[in-house]
Amino acid sequence: METQITAAPVETVETDAVALVLFEREEGQEPTPLARKIDQLTAGWIGDLYASGEFKGKTLETALCYRPSGLRSPRLLVIGGGKAGSFGHAELRRLAGAAARLLKGKGCRSFALALDAPFDAPEHAAAAAEGAILGDYETDRYKTQDKDERKPIERLIVVLPAVTAGHEQAVMRGRILAESQNFTRDLVNEPANLLPPLVLAERARQMASEYGLECEILDRERMAQLGMGALLGVAAGSQNPPALIIVRYKPDTPAPGGAHLGLLGKGVTFDTGGISLKPSDNMEKMKYDMAGGASVLGVMRALAQLKPAIPVTALVPAVENMPGGRAQRPGDIVTTLSGKTVEVLNTDAEGRLILADAITYAKRLGCTHLVDVATLTGAIVVALGYVNVGVFSNNDEFRDRLLAASRAAGEKMWPMPLDDEYKEMLKSAFADIPNVGNRWGGAITAAMFLKEFVENTPWVHLDIAGTAWLEDAKPYMAKGPTGVTVRTLANLSLSWKS
Ligand code: BES
Ligand code: ZN
Ligand code: MN
Repeated sequence: METQITAAPVETVETDAVALVLFEREEGQEPTPLARKIDQLTAGWIGDLYASGEFKGKTLETALCYRPSGLRSPRLLVIGGGKAGSFGHAELRRLAGAAARLLKGKGCRSFALALDAPFDAPEHAAAAAEGAILGDYETDRYKTQDKDERKPIERLIVVLPAVTAGHEQAVMRGRILAESQNFTRDLVNEPANLLPPLVLAERARQMASEYGLECEILDRERMAQLGMGALLGVAAGSQNPPALIIVRYKPDTPAPGGAHLGLLGKGVTFDTGGISLKPSDNMEKMKYDMAGGASVLGVMRALAQLKPAIPVTALVPAVENMPGGRAQRPGDIVTTLSGKTVEVLNTDAEGRLILADAITYAKRLGCTHLVDVATLTGAIVVALGYVNVGVFSNNDEFRDRLLAASRAAGEKMWPMPLDDEYKEMLKSAFADIPNVGNRWGGAITAAMFLKEFVENTPWVHLDIAGTAWLEDAKPYMAKGPTGVTVRTLANLSLSWKS
């Protein structure tokens, strides 16, 4: 989707539709200047719409007017923004997505989103672009019949009272972030037969060469030489060989301070559970168990274009977790790259095993700060549902910076506890540590396991098992992969001061 930005009067914009946000009308509240202007141009259509009671301005309510008088555009779409007092860029992002999805269903190939004070800052313009590009995305790549008739939106025009260089830049950045998030969603959407670990590695390599990033792939032999016993144990059951994908971004002039951010993403291209086999209900969804890996690759794609001041290295341990004659068994003991031994009590707790070796390797590569992203536990879905990403950390200051980046991105995240008392749940009689605790607090013991390998490096763990996949389509987003964390981690990297 092409994005344009203009301060031209909205009635003069040539496009298939003009979209406008209208709020709930509370006692004594005046309509915004833009709403009043369009009401005048359309001879009172907006006033009549409210008076009819059909439209109250509630969040995501819509009404469409054909041939609005006074506008050059053949359609006027109004979308409810809810209460103006609780409106912001996060809400605007969703409305822009809903507008894109609704309008392309009506055959529109372009639309203008008209913004008005106080929602006309650069962050709002960026959110409009992001929302429209994310909303336009579909997952019908493999349909040859009954394919969605809706053609993509080709052009978005953000209409503002005044355009500054800050607005131009914000829209460009928003477009890059949303396109990178869609790149992540494309990877997650691939079925496991078409995207085994080596194909994921190839896609990473292609992306890296397209955007001028370094890419290195460690194969099974190299990982065996290094001693990545935990990662290789998970890979043992599959005919599809594993890969450790490493993508590097290096700034031209790095900020002082010597920080080096490591982004780790769980890349299980399919999780059957292994010998601790999962039930067959919903198992097809486990193709999204590489969403963390796809996310950090999406972040790198964005950073290559947005050029933060710190070096960032992405590491994606990519494996398939399968049962089979060579698969690892419950009770197996593996030696990790760190030297610590792990008793594999449950082969379905595989994400933490592959991440343990990737974390140790990231530290060896010189990363001073680590963030891992993983569809790690069903337990995080029990704790936070499908709404918030679970955030775990060994460093309050770093965690707060990540949470600030997530708020600016409009991605919901919630801090979870990680104090040492939970470590008592991770005791093995036969090795240094087991790979699972008991039933309770499963998302926390999983994070605690990772922490044993992170040690003192400032680190944040994001559990996206509940948020990386959208079970039912929303007005602003297709069912399936969400690409969550791409915008947050890009923001975090770009906001690095030292
Ligand atoms: N990939 C799963 C976690 C998951 C569950 C992601 C549901 C998305 C939706 C992970 O590898 C797993 O199987 N975790 C187990 C851990 C358990 C064996 C301690 C789980 O959550 O059940
Ligand atoms: Zn898994
Ligand atoms: Mn599993």
